[in-house]
Amino acid sequence: MDKELRSRQWFGRKGKDGFIYRAWMKNQGIPAHELQGKPVIGICNTWSELTPCNAHFRELAESVKHGIYEAGGFPVEFPVMSLGETLIKPTAMLYRNLVSMDVEESIRANPIDGVVLLCGCDKTTPALVMGACSVNIPTIVVSGGPMLTGKYRGHDISTSDVWRFSEAHRSGKMSDDELFTAEACMTRSRGHCAVMGTASTMACMVESLGLTLAENAAIPAADSRRKVLAHLSGSRIVDMVKEDLKLSDILTRKAFENAITVNAAIGGSTNFVIHLLAIAARIGVDLTMDDFNNVKNIPLLANLQPSGKYFMEDFFYAGGLPALMKELHNELHSGIITVSGNPIEDNYVRSECFNREMIATLDNPFNETAGIVVVKGNLSENGAVLKPSAASPSLMKHTGKAVVFENIEDYKAKIDDPKLNVDESSVLVLKNVGPKGYPGMPEVGNMSIPKKLLEKGVTDMVRISDGRMSGTGFGTVVLHVSPEAAIGGTLAIVQDGDIIKLDVAAGLLEVELSDVEINERKKRLELPGNLTGRGYVWLYQTHVEQAHLGADMDFLKGGSGSGVLRDSH
Ligand code: FES
Repeated sequence: MDKELRSRQWFGRKGKDGFIYRAWMKNQGIPAHELQGKPVIGICNTWSELTPCNAHFRELAESVKHGIYEAGGFPVEFPVMSLGETLIKPTAMLYRNLVSMDVEESIRANPIDGVVLLCGCDKTTPALVMGACSVNIPTIVVSGGPMLTGKYRGHDISTSDVWRFSEAHRSGKMSDDELFTAEACMTRSRGHCAVMGTASTMACMVESLGLTLAENAAIPAADSRRKVLAHLSGSRIVDMVKEDLKLSDILTRKAFENAITVNAAIGGSTNFVIHLLAIAARIGVDLTMDDFNNVKNIPLLANLQPSGKYFMEDFFYAGGLPALMKELHNELHSGIITVSGNPIEDNYVRSECFNREMIATLDNPFNETAGIVVVKGNLSENGAVLKPSAASPSLMKHTGKAVVFENIEDYKAKIDDPKLNVDESSVLVLKNVGPKGYPGMPEVGNMSIPKKLLEKGVTDMVRISDGRMSGTGFGTVVLHVSPEAAIGGTLAIVQDGDIIKLDVAAGLLEVELSDVEINERKKRLELPGNLTGRGYVWLYQTHVEQAHLGADMDFLKGGSGSGVLRDSH
């Protein structure tokens, strides 16, 4: 180890300052030798009982600590704000950037030489990686792992069934009691959502980027091998510090391209786009929406809900992400260094697939349609996204009349109104649920089918919004429309009855209006402005960027390195 440890600036000092830095650490019962030249490893913990998906993280942190001690490091666990997708209001996405600030400043301000990020529920992964990128010290990610598959009346279930159960309940096919019983059957173990929703997508993202040890993505939270992975990651980060292997050494443009390829083949969440763009901008890699359109030749290999049949537990038993990446070998960049210090292919070349129905081959894929398609046009000049594998093939080219909801309250008031002028060919349009407009871009883009159509057996319609969709959701849903309605994007001027044209193959999203008409309507627009004049929400609404840039705050892009701002002691 040639480079002096960062932590020496604190614990290696003589005189009063060194006394203070060491003395207060010793009140935790830490012997002097732990603070004498050992790499100090931060364990950034998003444990919270309000984030049920991460509620087992204190135990996981203990496994990480065992590994750190074993390799000669000294662990220091610290909390950051946690984001529980199910409880936090108005939406966890509003706080992703706030958590990233917490992570960045907590790492930089403290005597930490390397850091282990404990990530789980959706936003906790991108938030922690974004924050760490802006500091850029040796970093390894450990995901919390998915829940065991839910079991309900003889059926396997998980989060995607929330939408199915909800529709069944609304149409009277499922009773209150049945719905209540299903709750406990679905979430029967520790861990995050067990489908290829956003949390699992993020776990695959960090593994394919090279930020984790192999197999991180799919080992169930309840499986003892999750603890083994945490232990080994704790050992490995100590060596990463000795090798000075930083995030910027791993997160090259090719690593991001690999992640995009893998995401196509797993049928990952549309949220992948927004989070990957934000991470790339923090580490200084020039990634754009168009990069997500460059994998049209990649078919769907993972037969996982919501695009397929199986669950993350099955994915692990079938060989997990290494087995899938082995299939993609010729489509991936080789030689990209991961946290292991070795090329990415070392993570998967020796893996095996144990269930070809679960992980298909490139020659015989589960579905030819995969990835995330970016559609552009006068309705989304900067792009919008759609996940073809979760959409209806019959609606991929569709023209229909707009049924417009001005905001979420308008939508809730009207969607089940029998007088709503809507039929199955209509296009549902929801405005003002974008980054600035809501604020925080909630997961409401997969609007419910109007009750009267649901009762007629309609199961999918084209839906368009500037919001997001849960990674567990499905349908022909166009999301992340940029520019959003709240800043005067064309979405804002769409009216009931306007003709909207979606052509996914052609990458097109248009409203059939002349430029003159669009401009006339825009002149009459009144923009909503900030919801509040103070606090974090004001800061967010004032500085958040559009979805096609990752919805980070403008002043957070890039990084400030690992040097402390001032040294007053
Ligand atoms: Fe936490 Fe789904 S609610 S991952």
